[in-house]
Amino acid sequence: IPGPGPSFALHPHPSPVPAERRAELLANPGFGRVFTDHMVVINYSEGRGWHDARVEARAPIPMDPAAAVLHYAQEIFEGMKAYATGNGGASLFRPEANARRFAESAARLAMPALPEDLFVESVRQLVAVDRDWIPTTAGASLYLRPFMFASEVFLGVKPSAEYLYMVIASPVGRYFKGGAETVSVWVSQDYTRAAPGGTGAAKCGGNYAASLVAQAEAARHGCDQVVFLDAAERRWVEELGGMNIFFAFDDGSLATPPLGTILPGITRDSVMALARRDGIPVREEPYSLDQWRADAASGRLREAFACGTAAVITPIGTVKTPDGGFAIGGGENAGEITKRLRTALTDIQRGIAPDPFGWVQTV
Ligand code: PLP
Ligand code: COI
Repeated sequence: IPGPGPSFALHPHPSPVPAERRAELLANPGFGRVFTDHMVVINYSEGRGWHDARVEARAPIPMDPAAAVLHYAQEIFEGMKAYATGNGGASLFRPEANARRFAESAARLAMPALPEDLFVESVRQLVAVDRDWIPTTAGASLYLRPFMFASEVFLGVKPSAEYLYMVIASPVGRYFKGGAETVSVWVSQDYTRAAPGGTGAAKCGGNYAASLVAQAEAARHGCDQVVFLDAAERRWVEELGGMNIFFAFDDGSLATPPLGTILPGITRDSVMALARRDGIPVREEPYSLDQWRADAASGRLREAFACGTAAVITPIGTVKTPDGGFAIGGGENAGEITKRLRTALTDIQRGIAPDPFGWVQTV
């Protein structure tokens, strides 16, 4: 087992954003446009391994035009959040799960594994220096974006011999603008996200590049997100562009698509654990678009929701397809199971409820 690797050098920002300006930015951060003062950088090179771990002023990265990532997209990332705790501290939700998934994504993209404790430590270091950037308004948090890319200057198609691992942080509010309680989704018929044997289970930038035309199609149809069906039969619901999906039925049970070609969401896993703790049966089983439509019409399906780090738990109100659409449970309001699970999850994340699973780490 690799050890924690190098220790971090801290080079504080010489001119951080002044407190008054930071307060203005934190009042209404939106999603992903405001960034903190610092970033983490760790270099990797074949032979030396991981080295020069540091926290430094956030700045552009000098890059050679032949850097491999710019040509063959050897890149992976993670998404997680830090929450402000009352005592001036901060907390992280299951960072070790992100570390494990990052290592699994690295393996799929033929990249070196970053030791999982080094990943967790890197995130903790950034949260500690930029603690004052965590928004305290309701529903807001500090979104953390660890990522790694191929930096070798070489146009041959092969795994890079050099990588840069970085972490940046962005104070965020709600992911969905709109302000409606539910979101609408478009079921893509023309585009799929992932095929068996492909990279669907890895969090690599290429998956998101491939999803953009489908997401644009969803937007043209007035929908907030795209839902992907499986690539082989175009029949089974897989996930959304950036979220997993759950269905809640009239018998009190939940279902969610099985792992394989979808991203193994940490929110998905947490929702299943919380539901089972509360005696709600959860099935991981394929669910077809036809069944979804039939169950919404008959009332057997009561609720559906999207879940992920950015989306938290967001109820789905309407579903659109090229041959028509349907509403779920009236379409406008969050259902009871969705609300209950959302409260259970966010209360643990924010330290309001006890943490029976040991999910929360304080910084
Ligand atoms: N599926 C996709 C495609 C995603 O981008 C995300 C977001 O990270 C998720 C699911 C949910 O994963 P998590 O709950 O770990 O954020
Ligand atoms: C996340 O939830 O962390 C994601 O990566 C999804 C993206 C839509 C922001």
